[in-house]
Amino acid sequence: MKSDANAKNMYDRLQNCLKCVRKKTDFVPKIALVLGSGLGDFAKNIEVECTIPYSEIENFPVSTVFGHAGQYIFGTLNGVKIVCMQGRVHYYEGYSIQEVVLPIRLMGLMGAEILFLTNASGGINSDFKAGDFMMITDHISNFVPNPLTGQNIEELGTRFPDMSHVYREELQAIIEEAAIEEKIDLKKGVYVQTTGPSFESPAEIQMFKLLGADAVGMSTVVEAIAANHMGMKVCGISCVCNLAAGISPRPLTHEEVFEAGVKASALFTRLVKKSIVKMGKI
Ligand code: HPA
Repeated sequence: MKSDANAKNMYDRLQNCLKCVRKKTDFVPKIALVLGSGLGDFAKNIEVECTIPYSEIENFPVSTVFGHAGQYIFGTLNGVKIVCMQGRVHYYEGYSIQEVVLPIRLMGLMGAEILFLTNASGGINSDFKAGDFMMITDHISNFVPNPLTGQNIEELGTRFPDMSHVYREELQAIIEEAAIEEKIDLKKGVYVQTTGPSFESPAEIQMFKLLGADAVGMSTVVEAIAANHMGMKVCGISCVCNLAAGISPRPLTHEEVFEAGVKASALFTRLVKKSIVKMGKI
């Protein structure tokens, strides 16, 4: 039986996915960008060279969530070569945690040096309001399985990788600069990933607050760990689409989160675009 935790199987699977991609394009991106819930419109800004639906890549995990149409988009943004993930898979869909990070590792193997993560989150920090953007400065991963469990894939990175500087200071400085130039109020904070799919209870949110989390969501952290493991430079921005349970007086729905993402997308697009153009110069 094939096990995701077997390093050789997973590395072979990645190499096979890479072969599928290389049959369609020899594009080497500098930056890999993951678009979160409702933020898929960003793709309109890209001068597209090639798109590859996830379903056309052999053994690639395909998302089942509304708002997560699945494809890689290859192209340039003001001359900067990017590959964009329009749609990601989540652990709550039933994929193994190793499968959840496969698309990220694949972009690393395509040659991307920088991973730019975006997501929708619930705001825990009482200074946050719905519609804010939070630059991720650090994360809490302890509530989801670690994507590096199982045999280590030596071809990608070391068994015990350091996680002191996952969200690179030089990339954070660029995002801050971009926010100032675009006159966008940029919050900063710690993001905690849960497995989902249920939203958190008010008591869980209080616990996360005590632990130092500023925003909560169901993605991103495992992707950042896998990318850092293989030496990619990571940065991330979270769209605080709602106030987290108990902080918000209303029950949470996916539709509300999705709509908030859509509403924020024009501003978000400006922030991410400017950041990427600046990152293209480093
Ligand atoms: N909790 C978890 N994930 C989320 C939330 C939330 O409140 N909002 C958007 N994604």
